[in-house]
Amino acid sequence: MTAQELPPPLPAATVTALNRPDGTLHTTRTRSWNGWDLDVPPGVFRPGLTSEMIADRVLSGEIETRGRRYLAMGCGLGLEVVAAGIRGAGHVYAVDVHPASVETAVRHHDRLAGPGGCTGIVADLLDGVPDGTVVDVVTFNPPAVSVRVAEDPDVVRNVCEGAPLLDRFFAQLAGRDVLAPGGEVLVIASNTADLPAIVRSAAGHGFDAGLVLRHDWGDGVLTHLFRFTRSGGAR
Ligand SMILES: C[S@@+](CC[C@H](N)C(=O)[O-])C[C@H]1O[C@@H](n2cnc3c(N)ncnc32)[C@H](O)[C@@H]1O
Repeated sequence: MTAQELPPPLPAATVTALNRPDGTLHTTRTRSWNGWDLDVPPGVFRPGLTSEMIADRVLSGEIETRGRRYLAMGCGLGLEVVAAGIRGAGHVYAVDVHPASVETAVRHHDRLAGPGGCTGIVADLLDGVPDGTVVDVVTFNPPAVSVRVAEDPDVVRNVCEGAPLLDRFFAQLAGRDVLAPGGEVLVIASNTADLPAIVRSAAGHGFDAGLVLRHDWGDGVLTHLFRFTRSGGAR
C-alpha cells in the first residue's frame, strides 16, 4: 500500500465537528467492554469504537499476541492490554506518556488477566522504554487527528497530535532494536488524520504498509488498520 492509494484528510471543519470534546475528560468515567466494567480516571482517554477494533482483534488473536512479546503504545485505559493478558501474551508492555494511563492499564490488566505479566512504562513513544526491551508485536491507536480540536493539552495528547507524532515513532522504531526481527506494528487511523503522510513517514524510515482492514463508518470517516513491517522482510 502506497500513500497515493489513501484518501486525503477530511476538511478541517469536518474533522473538528467529528472530534468535538464532550467536556468530561477531567472527570472519572466508566467504560464497559467484553462484559467488564472499567473505571476511567481523569485525563485517561475513554475508548471509542476504534479502540475496540484493536482490542477485539487482540482478544480474538486476529492480532496475535499469544506467546509473543507485545507492546501497547499509547495504552490509555488499556483494553488491548487486558486483551493481550487474557489471550496469553508472553509479556505485555503498557506504554503511555501519561502516568495515570499507565497505572490504570496495568491495574485493569492485573485485575482481569492476573498479576505479573504486564510492565507499565511511562515514556514519550519509545523514548523511555528501557534498552534491551524487545517485542514481536506493537499496536498503536495514536492521537493522529490532523486538526487541533481544543487547546486543552490533555485533549491534544489523546486526540490530535497529528502525523508528526507518527513520524517520530517510526524514526525511533528504525533507530532502536525494540522490534524483533519479523516483528509487526499495527496502527489504526482514519482520514481525520493525514493517512498519506503517515504511510510516507513509515516508508521513509524503512517500513512497508499493508492494509489489514478499511472500515467505512458511513459519515465520510474511513478507518484504516495498517500492518507495518520492515522493508525487505525480517532482519
Ligand atoms: C487515542 S488514545 C488511545 C488509547 C488506547 N490505546 C485506546 O485505544 O483506547 C491515544 C493515547 O496515546 C497516548 N499518547 C499521546 N502521546 C504520546 C506519546 N508521545 N507517547 C506515548 N503515548 C502517547 C495518550 O496519552 C493516549 O493514551
